[in-house]
Amino acid sequence: MDTNRTLTGRRALVTGGARGIGAAIARRLAADGACVVIADLDVEEGRRLAADIGAAAVQLDVTELLQVGEVIDSHGPFDILVNNAGMDQHAFFTQTTADDWRRLLAVNLESVFATTHAVLPHMQGAGYGRIINIASEAGRLGSRGGAVYAAAKGGVIAFTRSIARENGRKGITANVVAPGPIDTPMLREAVARGGERLMGTMTGATLAGRLGTPDEVAAATAFLASDAAGFITGEILGVSGGMGCGA
Ligand code: NAI
Repeated sequence: MDTNRTLTGRRALVTGGARGIGAAIARRLAADGACVVIADLDVEEGRRLAADIGAAAVQLDVTELLQVGEVIDSHGPFDILVNNAGMDQHAFFTQTTADDWRRLLAVNLESVFATTHAVLPHMQGAGYGRIINIASEAGRLGSRGGAVYAAAKGGVIAFTRSIARENGRKGITANVVAPGPIDTPMLREAVARGGERLMGTMTGATLAGRLGTPDEVAAATAFLASDAAGFITGEILGVSGGMGCGA
């Protein structure tokens, strides 16, 4: 997919856009002409990237639901919403606690409710919107050592499809991008904790036999954000080297 300014005139919010997949998405949407706002816990890193790509950055904890509304009111309205902020946890379910469940659900799922709730009224009024939620192949395949994370991402998938159903006739599309193992700080941190064997397990689960790159996820996201994808809604686009093949 070539960069050809397909998003000129569009305003996009990318949560968790300071590093990893979110940073690649912010960079790609800006290169395609969108006016991008990066919303991240790490505002310093967000500002550095924003300065580099001609975007804006704002500090946001997506689990702070009031803050989400305020940021969207003050930096919106948005035509494109990319819910990318997320966190994982590598532990067998019996080793997790209720606090772990609450945190994983708040960051990965509840945050998506909050941003979507805040952007939809404008999108519905404008008769146009693109919502792209970064879930995970774990959300449709399950995850050994990531049951609650997988449940949260599965929730993102079901939520996205519901939003697609409610808004299909209003010019708004809602789709999921489901990455497999992507070479980001999150994955590197997991490998540092879990050892090189974990890396082998992750690459071995893909048909491609390798990690994906953040740019590969960004390309899929930019396509779904474009006018060209206007007849695609309620879909799950795996960017996982074939990991979700058949799911
Ligand atoms: P990362 O950890 O490298 O980057 C995540 C970004 O989100 C960071 O900039 C962080 O500051 C921000 N963030 C975290 N919690 C936040 C919060 N409460 N409020 C605002 N910002 C917050 O992660 P990565 O790997 O780039 O992942 C991005 C998304 O892709 C996540 O939703 C993740 O679950 C998903 N994903 C990643 C995969 C991978 O292999 N890296 C595989 C499948 C899905």
